[in-house]
Amino acid sequence: HGGKTEPEPPPPAKGRRSLLPAGAGEAGGGRRVSMSDFEVVGYLGAGGSSQVHLVQRVGELPQRLFALKAVRKNHLSARRVAEESRILQTLRHPFIVGLHYAFEDEIRLYLVLSYAGGGDLLAQLERHGRVAEPAARLCFAEVVSALSYLHTQQVLYRDLKPENLLLGHDGHILLADFGVSKRLVQQQRTQQQTQQQPRPPLDRKDSSGGALRDGTTPHRACCGDAATSTMVGTPAYMAPEVVLGHEYSYAADWWSAGILLHELLTNEAPFSDQSIAGLWNHLRRPGLCFRVSAEDRKRMSEAACDLIEKLLVADASARASWRPLPH
Ligand code: ADE
Repeated sequence: HGGKTEPEPPPPAKGRRSLLPAGAGEAGGGRRVSMSDFEVVGYLGAGGSSQVHLVQRVGELPQRLFALKAVRKNHLSARRVAEESRILQTLRHPFIVGLHYAFEDEIRLYLVLSYAGGGDLLAQLERHGRVAEPAARLCFAEVVSALSYLHTQQVLYRDLKPENLLLGHDGHILLADFGVSKRLVQQQRTQQQTQQQPRPPLDRKDSSGGALRDGTTPHRACCGDAATSTMVGTPAYMAPEVVLGHEYSYAADWWSAGILLHELLTNEAPFSDQSIAGLWNHLRRPGLCFRVSAEDRKRMSEAACDLIEKLLVADASARASWRPLPH
């Protein structure tokens, strides 16, 4: 498919067997947390190579439940989980799963995450079918809030899909699984380079009166033209620029958001094909332009159709996106 392989996060420094940054997993008073601080009270499932257990802290009152994600350090994906921990440590948002502790022993790496007791959106869609528009609107607004916050933190999420959207007991969204997320670091330019190549103006295409912005460079101050080109994510949610192996940036997450919104409202994928190859051939077509079907149009508001069509725009620089409202 022409995609590149994601370079593994850097190996730990020589002589250090730890995958986690120093300071992760402090229990207070400088003592490090370990598995002996937790008792396992349930099993939540497996995600790839990791196991997720329901745990609580020994002796803590009132008792709080956490999701404990454990991965074997000798497994290839351990580096990804370590990177996930590094990213989550810097984030704090009501609709993003919180990382409470990260620690390791000789064999495994552990992340202690906030527990979402309401299952995931994929299970909801499978059980109850499409989501009524008022509920979908709230759910999608929470996803937008989480994604636009991530982008201000220079984090490209890269795996937006219903199974990564957990529901808290209160019914609110918790975005989880940062296993393929990436912090985009703007290339450092030397003064000479900056003088030679003046940067293009940002927000070139903003035809929507200010509410929706150019997706590739949504945040003038922090994001600049930071980008990546590794083919990462889940095929059905990948933006055309990802599939094509082009450089891509935050706009790729907004494409996935368009797929998600279509799925929430119709319980069907907007681009369906028998095979990944067929789907990708479709996404690679020049001039690709998505239109909500006449049948779906009858069931959805004009605003919802319009939003889906503005997100599923093949040209990343013309795709709808959001930046957070100023405080
Ligand atoms: N499965 C994976 N992560 C989880 C979490 N944070 N809460 C509940 N179930 C999960």
